[in-house]
This record gives sequence, structure tokens and C-alpha cells, in this order.
Amino acid sequence: MKNQRHLTTLSSLVIVTLLVFTANSCSDGSADRIAELESRIEHMEDLYKPGLHSLMNETMFRHANLWFAGIAENWELAYYQHHELEEVFEDIEALHPEYHGEPIALLIGSMTKPAMDEVEEAIEAQNPVRFREAFTNLTESCNSCHVATNKQMIYIIEPDQNTVRNLRF
Ligand code: HEC
Repeated sequence: MKNQRHLTTLSSLVIVTLLVFTANSCSDGSADRIAELESRIEHMEDLYKPGLHSLMNETMFRHANLWFAGIAENWELAYYQHHELEEVFEDIEALHPEYHGEPIALLIGSMTKPAMDEVEEAIEAQNPVRFREAFTNLTESCNSCHVATNKQMIYIIEPDQNTVRNLRF
């Protein structure tokens, strides 16, 4: 079993080496072509990668929707909004693990994850008191990270007015 695994790893290595060798040894300029294509792909990825500020705006939108769903005790919607917020954080971790030298992915893991888990547990328990407490901690975690990344002027609060007029909470 172990040997078989070693054999598979070995054959994969041989295939990869052969591929690299073939790519490098092409004398018809295809190595240059590959390099050019790689740089074009990189450029396009940069063009279509949402900036951290855009993802943060979505975070703010989800944060507000989560609050209004939670205080309306619409647990199904709250669960959905929590999940979407989680996905935005995952996108941020994947697309901007570091931002101007700040370890964004690391900070999300240490600051936001515990608060997000707390909110999820409150939703699952359908407990409005726990939801409010957990939401306060979540909002604090947004602000702690803004302080940690020198963006303390972006101070998030619990929304007092629902500006989304076309979704039933
Ligand atoms: C990992 C750290 C971190 C966490 C956690 C975090 N933020 Fe941010 N946030 C930032 C940084 C850094 C910026 C500045 C981005 C830039 O310079 O483009 C920012 C910017 C923003 C902005 C301004 C966007 C704009 O218009 O330019 C908003 C709004 C925002 N965050 C909301 C939130 C909310 C709401 C939460 C919590 C649910 C949150 N953030 C959690 C780091 C964080």
C-alpha cells in the first residue's frame, strides 16, 4: 500500500519533470510564448480581482443584513446572511492574505472567526439575547482589525436604520 503510494508519487514526479523539460527545451520560442501568456494571465487576474475595499463594502452590507435578520428573529435569513459573510471573509483571505504588509488572513482567523462562531451558535439556538451579544462582539472584531491595520477611522456600529427597503426581514 505504502509502496504503491510511493510509486504513484514517483511517476507523477517523472511526468512533471518531463513536462517541464519539454517546455524548457522547445527551441521554437514556445518558452517565450508560455512566459508571455503567464504574464497576461497575471495581468488579467489583477484586473478582475476585487479590491479589499470592495470586499469590505460587501462585508458591511452583510453585517447590516445579518443584524436586521437577527433582531427580526428571522433565523433562516440570519443563517443565510451569516454564511454569506463567512464567504466574503474567505474570499478576502484567499485574494488578499496580505495587504500593504498587514497579515489580513491571519487577523481574520484570530479576530473574526471566534466572533463569527459565536453568532452562528446563537442563530442555531434561535436565542435573541445571545445573538445581540455575539453580534456586538463581531462588530468589535471588525473595529479591532481596523485599529490593527491602521484604519481606525472606519468605525463600524450596529445599524440603527434599515436602508435595504426591498428585502423582507
Ligand atoms: C482582517 C482585518 C479586517 C477585518 C476583520 C475587517 N476589516 Fe474592514 N477593512 C480592513 C482594511 C485593511 C480596510 C481598508 C481597505 C483599503 O485600504 O482598501 C477595511 C475597510 C473597510 C471598509 C471601508 C470600505 C471602503 O469603502 O473603502 C468598511 C466599510 C469595512 N472595512 C467594514 C468592515 C466590517 C463591517 C467588518 C466586520 C464584519 C470588517 N470590515 C472587518 C480590515 C478589516
